[in-house]
Amino acid sequence: MTDSYTATRARMPELEQRVAADPGRFRVLTGERPTGALHLGHYFGTIRERVRLQARGVETYVILADYQVIADRDTSANVAENVYNAVLDYLASGLDPDRTTIFVHSAVPALNQLLLPFLSLVTEAELHRNPTVKAEQAASGRALSGLLLTYPVHQAADILFCKGNLVPVGKDNLPHVELTRTVARRFNERYGMTFPEPEAFVTDAPEIPGLDGRKMSKSYGNAISLSMTEDETARVIRRTRTDSDRAITYEPDRRPGVAGLLSTAALCTDSTPEAVAAEVGDRGSGALKQFTTDAVNAFLAEHRTRRAELAVDRSIAARVLRDGNRRANARADATLSEVRERMGMAYGYQ
Ligand code: TRP
Repeated sequence: MTDSYTATRARMPELEQRVAADPGRFRVLTGERPTGALHLGHYFGTIRERVRLQARGVETYVILADYQVIADRDTSANVAENVYNAVLDYLASGLDPDRTTIFVHSAVPALNQLLLPFLSLVTEAELHRNPTVKAEQAASGRALSGLLLTYPVHQAADILFCKGNLVPVGKDNLPHVELTRTVARRFNERYGMTFPEPEAFVTDAPEIPGLDGRKMSKSYGNAISLSMTEDETARVIRRTRTDSDRAITYEPDRRPGVAGLLSTAALCTDSTPEAVAAEVGDRGSGALKQFTTDAVNAFLAEHRTRRAELAVDRSIAARVLRDGNRRANARADATLSEVRERMGMAYGYQ
């Protein structure tokens, strides 16, 4: 996985150039699973990138992958609320629903019908080899569900239903993009040219450290959600475990909590962890926490104001999703018809 990450990163400048030269040739499909509140890790990892690609004029689809939630969890509680909140964060971040299609996986039945032919194109051994699936299964502490084993194929359908050819993702999703390329290639070989082989687009901040220095994740309790109030932000930052060494230094291995705070403050002030450490100097972790709180709250102030305005009327987000689902369904229906045509399974009496 690390090797393919390095190789993908190395291709980024050239890919950036191709996108800038001809944005109309690209279609972005990306998204996330609505497992909880979106946090700074999502923002710096992919959301900011989507807004940038949208501004370049690249057609963009964003999927809220609700079925993926139950791949490694045994409850779908809160999914609807998480979907609603994600839409608020997308809009507050600058995604424009007229230019970007925001939709929910389960609302697009034709997309899921692609799963069956796609499953026929991969082997069970290939599915078992996926390093992210293995890691997620281990982290879940549960037996490997059929859905978890096959969800990268679902994800191939998510990407290919709209013929997405550019997929902004974090490092852990690279194996899924690789599998999507395999599915597209094999489908094309067997049934004739139908799908593009999508390229992964990785940002330079693919894994944002959380407040404790581990990857930022709601399940680690080390995340700052975009929707938190200023006080809630101060509280989670205060809870970070640091040490009593007054001199603030950036040493991720030895001082993970301090390093997590420094990285967060640096991202929010467009600086580096080392520069923030120098600025806090020997004023200790109390001062570092205050600095980080102020940096995050200033960075998110505008986002939070816009978010609150959108939250006044629930029908705003509802309308965005209804519209997005309609557009995604039209695309999925067209692609499914083409697939059935290619497979000789368009019977003409349906
Ligand atoms: N698996 C992604 C995640 O971990 C979410 C996702 C679902 C996705 N379908 C996608 C990402 C298609 C990119 C493209 O959050």
